[in-house]
Amino acid sequence: MAIAQSPPARTPPFRPQILCLAGFMGSGKTTIGALLARQLAWRFVDLDDRIEEAAGLRIPEIFERLGEAAFRQMEADQLRSALGRAFELKESIVLALGGGTYAQAGAPEFLRTSGIPVVWLNPSIEVLLSRCMTMTGRPLFRDESSFRALYAQRLPSYQQADHRVDSSGEPARVVAEIVRRGIISAAAGDAHLVVEEPKP
Ligand code: S3P
Repeated sequence: MAIAQSPPARTPPFRPQILCLAGFMGSGKTTIGALLARQLAWRFVDLDDRIEEAAGLRIPEIFERLGEAAFRQMEADQLRSALGRAFELKESIVLALGGGTYAQAGAPEFLRTSGIPVVWLNPSIEVLLSRCMTMTGRPLFRDESSFRALYAQRLPSYQQADHRVDSSGEPARVVAEIVRRGIISAAAGDAHLVVEEPKP
């Protein structure tokens, strides 16, 4: 009698989980992203770092020497390449965007159609200001009034994020809040990379 062979158990293809952190300068994307990634044992990717590595220049130098338009093009390119790499390597990542990435035309749509959840880290503008006042290396932080104006201009973009988390408090508490809300399991949904490019 032939031994009936059961078919090999089917495991669904592994999809990397990707979570993007958006938010204005000083919202804590890098600190919170690194902490969250460590907790999840995912890779942490900082888009600003990737831009600097690719350009071989620090961000203020990119703005000074090449201008903001060139920076935005690099930012859009590095966004696609960071996501592409995560899919290629099947590697789950927390990706901290730059303050202006999600405000680029087409970026919210690009991430949404790619099935990648976006968390908007949003402390009060006073907290953002106080954090940025004491930090250097941000070419778009000039003075309080232009800072407030840029924030107001970008709000409609940030408001398109899937989740909004107040990041005024301790980074560990913000990470706990992201986990508590089940945002991570949502990131396990059906991410797939779309080929359309965000317009710079
Ligand atoms: C920018 C924010 C910066 C960096 C660049 C431009 C912006 O990132 O990408 O200076 O347009 O708001 P952080 O938000 O990490 O400071």
